[in-house]
Amino acid sequence: MVVPESQEKMYYPPVELQRNAHVPDFNSYLVMYKKSLENPEAFWREVADEFFWKKPATGPMLQHNFDMTKGNIFVNCMEGAKTNMCYNVLDRHVKEGKLGEKVAYYWEGNSPDHHMTITYRQLLSHVCRCANVLKQMGVKRGDRVSIYLPMIPELIVTMLACARIGAVHSIVFAGFSSESLCERIMDAQSSVLVTAGKLLQHQTYAICLDVTCCCTRRSSGVTTCLVIKHQAQRTRTGTSCNKLQTPWESERDVWWDEVMRDSPDECEPEWMDAEDPLFILYTSGSTGKPKGVVHTVAGYLLYTSLTFRYVFDHHPDDVYWCTADIGWITGHSYITYGPLANGATSVLFEGLPVHPHVGRFWEIIEKYKVTKFYTAPTAIRLLMKYGQEPLRKYDLSSLRILGTVGEPINPEAWRWYHEVVGQGRCPVVDTFWQTETGGHVLTPLPAATPLKPGSATFPFFGVEPAILNEHGEELEGVTEGYLVFRKPWPGIMRTIYKNQELFENTYFRKFPGFYVTGDGCRRDKDGYYWITGRIDDMLNVSGHLMSTAEVEAALMLHQSVSEAAVVSRPHKVKGECLYCFVTLKDSKEFNCKLVEDLKRLVREKIGPIATPDFIQNAPALPKTRSGKIMRRILRQIARNEKDLGDLSTLADPKVVEVLFNQRSEAA
Ligand code: PRX
Repeated sequence: MVVPESQEKMYYPPVELQRNAHVPDFNSYLVMYKKSLENPEAFWREVADEFFWKKPATGPMLQHNFDMTKGNIFVNCMEGAKTNMCYNVLDRHVKEGKLGEKVAYYWEGNSPDHHMTITYRQLLSHVCRCANVLKQMGVKRGDRVSIYLPMIPELIVTMLACARIGAVHSIVFAGFSSESLCERIMDAQSSVLVTAGKLLQHQTYAICLDVTCCCTRRSSGVTTCLVIKHQAQRTRTGTSCNKLQTPWESERDVWWDEVMRDSPDECEPEWMDAEDPLFILYTSGSTGKPKGVVHTVAGYLLYTSLTFRYVFDHHPDDVYWCTADIGWITGHSYITYGPLANGATSVLFEGLPVHPHVGRFWEIIEKYKVTKFYTAPTAIRLLMKYGQEPLRKYDLSSLRILGTVGEPINPEAWRWYHEVVGQGRCPVVDTFWQTETGGHVLTPLPAATPLKPGSATFPFFGVEPAILNEHGEELEGVTEGYLVFRKPWPGIMRTIYKNQELFENTYFRKFPGFYVTGDGCRRDKDGYYWITGRIDDMLNVSGHLMSTAEVEAALMLHQSVSEAAVVSRPHKVKGECLYCFVTLKDSKEFNCKLVEDLKRLVREKIGPIATPDFIQNAPALPKTRSGKIMRRILRQIARNEKDLGDLSTLADPKVVEVLFNQRSEAA
């Protein structure tokens, strides 16, 4: 049993949950964890045994090299095995598991009037049809398919259809701008784009075809665009999908409904090698260029399946709801693959937590009797603002386990989640992981781990964390430093698409022998891990990671701007927000119009998630004598922290005073 640090309040697992749990107490966790590290071969083989393998593995469960001085970095899981992801998450349940009539998803649209239920059998049938449509379009094993869709069932259908025929999906969050989408399409070299009518404010619809227009302009190489009519478009009279902002190109654009209707609903899965790519998902890179993180079939299947089962203590009668968007890794791993691999029933929600009213989340929990609920700290902080009243109207007694992901959760939000949403009876699993890790790496197990608000607690099975200092020396006991991992687990990324060199340099060069997360971390006297946030030039706004360089590059596109520097500033709801310093070209004037223009520019280039909260005029930026921008000082100016410490490396200390004086203009 873990003994807490002196005054700290610990939250222990409820006994009712422990009775029937996969990992029923802390001791069981320790025993299984030890086994997973001492004998990974046996541990992962047992996990693999429940899945279908067309050909068994001939090599070990995991091989790797994490040391650049010894050769290329690689991870190899189950060499020689052949399987298919889609077969394992659908056919296996329908054919072998008799789960055909079980609900896979309760889809709840943005409008409460739109909803539907999809069983495993129906999902399989749609997926096969879509797979045949893609094949008809010439998509073959290994080809990339870009997907740019809101949270509608067709998104899951398309991703699984890709998996079925061995195509590599590249999903781009629908909140990204068309420019961002094009950049990703071009990097992935996709020739097919699947997109939809897009919901704009106040019931106006614009088709996403401005995206395809943009792609054509930039000769992205998209030759076929499969366009879905959103359900809201189908049911709303008077809204014509043909009133497109961009002309329909009959050579390229195809309506989903038309081709799906006549497509056969049987499709033999493509039997893939264990290490074939399953998908590419772009994440922000510190240089500003997004990196295409590659995940592969077998390892990702094992890892998302196992983490889902243990972290949410999944049981067949659960109704699970993850509010993330599938455009992010959380949606890939814990809306699509992890839950389906377990034959789970999930809620798939298209909308926002406060539309059409601030109790929407609670209403949906009551409606579907959700038992496991997984959301982001930013959503919790947003809903906290409305107090307890909106929750009181709904019956939340079905809830058993709550989860959070994406950013550090402040203890105040943690307690509100635990006490008000979970009524004090539901453990909160604070799951730390990344696009690159594929699944949870530091996380409590709900029936086993005593919780401390704000700590992601302990490593998941097979994961071996370490904390290093700047010199790469491993720090023991109570300490703080760089969070790294010593060994791979099956679900870790394999490379950056078409850029193995960037992959090795980004994650393995700094500390040979370790995967470097880019996060800082503290370990307390009970061995609990506490993520302290990014230690590179990344920002985490509402759980969305972005790079300062990316936003700076967008600002610099404005003809009045000669230099830009972006830092984070704490924000009550978003966690962090963007505070931008811009230096203007001679004779250009800083005014409200310019601020609005710059905000719009960033929205257009990257997407609404990157909209700056503050833009400050900076006649000059604080730099070292060698010309490097001193971001530490800018962060302190943004936060109005006057005690700046040692400024001796500054080329011109007067700059700082000017920036402090002008601060009020922005904030
Ligand atoms: O800084 C960490 C933060 O989010 C980063 C990963 O972002 P992304 O790849 O977009 O994936 C987000 C969803 C998995 C991490 O490097 N982060 C994620 N989860 C947590 C977190 N920080 C603290 N606590 C967490 N639970």
